[in-house]
Amino acid sequence: MTSIPQMNAEVLQQAQQQIQRDLQTALDAFSIPEPLKSAVNHAVMLGGKRVRPALCYATSNLSTKNSNFAAVRRAAVAIEMIHCYSLAHDDLPCMDNDLLRRGQPTCHVAFGEDTALLAGDILQSMAFEVLGSRLFDTGVAVDGAIVLKQMQILATASSKMVCGQVLDLQAEGKHVDQEHLETIHRNKTGALIQAAIMMAAVTIFSGTDQAIPKLRQFGQAIGLAFQVQDDILDVTASTETLGKTAGKDEQVDKSTYPALMGLEQAQAYAQQLHDQAFDALKYFGENAQDLNQISRFLLSRKS
Ligand code: IPE
Ligand code: IPE
Ligand code: MG
Ligand code: MG
Ligand code: MG
Repeated sequence: MTSIPQMNAEVLQQAQQQIQRDLQTALDAFSIPEPLKSAVNHAVMLGGKRVRPALCYATSNLSTKNSNFAAVRRAAVAIEMIHCYSLAHDDLPCMDNDLLRRGQPTCHVAFGEDTALLAGDILQSMAFEVLGSRLFDTGVAVDGAIVLKQMQILATASSKMVCGQVLDLQAEGKHVDQEHLETIHRNKTGALIQAAIMMAAVTIFSGTDQAIPKLRQFGQAIGLAFQVQDDILDVTASTETLGKTAGKDEQVDKSTYPALMGLEQAQAYAQQLHDQAFDALKYFGENAQDLNQISRFLLSRKS
């Protein structure tokens, strides 16, 4: 069964609907042979909270005079494609070796390791192709400088994600200190979350706008908090709710925040990071209501 997690926040539900349509449109624009097409569809279309696209849209809503929503929609598609690629590879037997993802068999269980690997590979290229395309354009002139900035942000974050993944694998069965764990989490997860925010930020704010460092601060805090909570949920939530195997981190002796500092301290740390995130949003006042709503959802998420 496809599990799209229940989210009360209206802004998140709207984002899910928007990205579901846009991802389908984007995938339909590519000609991919079977079984790769079905594997890509499996990796991308079946469930997921769609937090990164939601952050992208919400950031663009900080300004009412955003005339370049097509560029934001492309960025949301691109970031979710990279995220889905990262999950397909993260689940492979040579990585976390997981069987369940978003309430479904993982991509390699459904299609084989070779096809799952290639599904991740093609999604990575497709993300950049979408960013550089005219998909969703409504006649407004494309600003090439913005497209370049988006590509650079996404490429940098994707590389960081891969570096974080290798550090994560190396840290299995070891007791790393908090500084090192923070480096792993900021890279493997925080970077893509921050990129979702910054790709939208550069479409609506100029490089010298004070909003840019504020959003970077917000993205850093919410991005690290996201992986701290992922670690916490692995301990506290059920496989059914998560749509992925609960208790997996302990089973393979992953370096996580609950393992490092205990569950309660990890929960307190997640709260502290969220406070930092809310603080950064104060600069935007009422305009940040969508980002505030998403942050509140993230703080209390159950999956
Ligand atoms: C899971 O990400 C992997 C991490 C980076 C922590 P999500 O929790 O966003 O997964 P989906 O997209 O909702 O399935
Ligand atoms: C995933 O971290 C990070 C990336 C996919 C880049 P995890 O390995 O903790 O994610 P889950 O718990 O399998 O979703
Ligand atoms: Mg992993
Ligand atoms: Mg994993
Ligand atoms: Mg995890």
